[in-house]
Amino acid sequence: MVSNLVKNLNPSKTLALTEKISRLKGQGREILAFNLGEPDFNTPVSVIEAAEKAMRCGHTKYTSVAGISELRTEICRKLSEDNNLEYSPEQICVSTGAKQALVNSAQAVCNPGDEVIIFTPCWVSYVEIVKIAGGIPVLVKASEENGFQPSRKDLVKAVTPASKAIIINSPNNPTGAIYSESTIRMIAETAEKYGLVMISDEIYEKLIYTDERPFSPASVSEYAMDNTITINGFSKAYAMTGWRIGYTAAPKELADGIVSLQSHTTSNANTISQYAAIAALKECSADIERMKTAFNERRLYLFNRLKSMSRIECVESRGAFYLMPNVSGYYGSRTPSGDIIGNSNGFCDYMLSEASIALVPGEAFESPENVRISYAASLENLKKGMDAFEQALLNIK
Ligand SMILES: Cc1ncc(COP(=O)(O)O)c(C=O)c1O
Repeated sequence: MVSNLVKNLNPSKTLALTEKISRLKGQGREILAFNLGEPDFNTPVSVIEAAEKAMRCGHTKYTSVAGISELRTEICRKLSEDNNLEYSPEQICVSTGAKQALVNSAQAVCNPGDEVIIFTPCWVSYVEIVKIAGGIPVLVKASEENGFQPSRKDLVKAVTPASKAIIINSPNNPTGAIYSESTIRMIAETAEKYGLVMISDEIYEKLIYTDERPFSPASVSEYAMDNTITINGFSKAYAMTGWRIGYTAAPKELADGIVSLQSHTTSNANTISQYAAIAALKECSADIERMKTAFNERRLYLFNRLKSMSRIECVESRGAFYLMPNVSGYYGSRTPSGDIIGNSNGFCDYMLSEASIALVPGEAFESPENVRISYAASLENLKKGMDAFEQALLNIK
């Protein structure tokens, strides 16, 4: 009954974890959630007010498929000011979250059998999104020793005559790494040399905790501008996960293809959220700074705690709201109940049962030696959680 497409999809690797957490919560256990990929802040008030106003003004109907022109114009202004990218509103398609923007992009680019290069560790959905589009995911490891930056050698080794595109995600989920300007230039040069498209997911771009500026692949060269789909969204920086707004900025031919695809699937993104997104772009820089300051305090706290633990290695990442320590020093060790920790699934199971903290196993991100810790959680909970984490590690033989 079920299609081969659906049969070949891997169910979300974080789903089993969510089920375990709710079972434990059902038994009355308090679980500290460091597994979440969404800010723990409320959406800024000015965004909520803009949505209320939109509804009262009757902005509750369909819009054009690509989104209202005021929002697309505002997105172009943002891309010009923040990213040095000159797009026109006809090149923008507003979608139901960056996730739909990615699905649209993969479908607009891939023919059956086209290979799409994905750097690992990678966000859980890239591999499946490429498969849904008929493409073949090709994984290229961005090594931990290199601060999770991909290397030219590894990238070039993965290129074949079937290569079509490269997905780039900086700042990165799950590692928090920010690709340096030279890494981005290297990827763009390689894309140009082999005639590849770049799909650049920049959704964590506002969450950079140093004075580095975001550097967009499309800004590298004329080739890059003509062959990159730049993707962004409002979920992370503006604490708007539930509003479901993201967008693509693409060369006109691809932009038209994306709008055409979307016209036959969801049509326009939620109208009310589109009006809210204009307020986010125009009025929320102070809100972003406030959230960023809190995230950074937590990042430093978490990193310093992890650094002090002897069998844990951790890259000091400077973006998004994740750290990805290497916990493989514990593989092969025995828990107090006699189980051997064999991999990051086992490590996370142990932490959930022993320390009541939820982490995401690196297996979910094609990185089995690591676990992802999200610091989209209060400093108080992080302190409590790290105390429990450290104690649970001491109990391992
Ligand atoms: C790297 C990355 N891209 C895209 C998304 C999707 O975001 P949205 O909520 O805008 O669909 C996420 C959400 O977790 C993400 O981490």
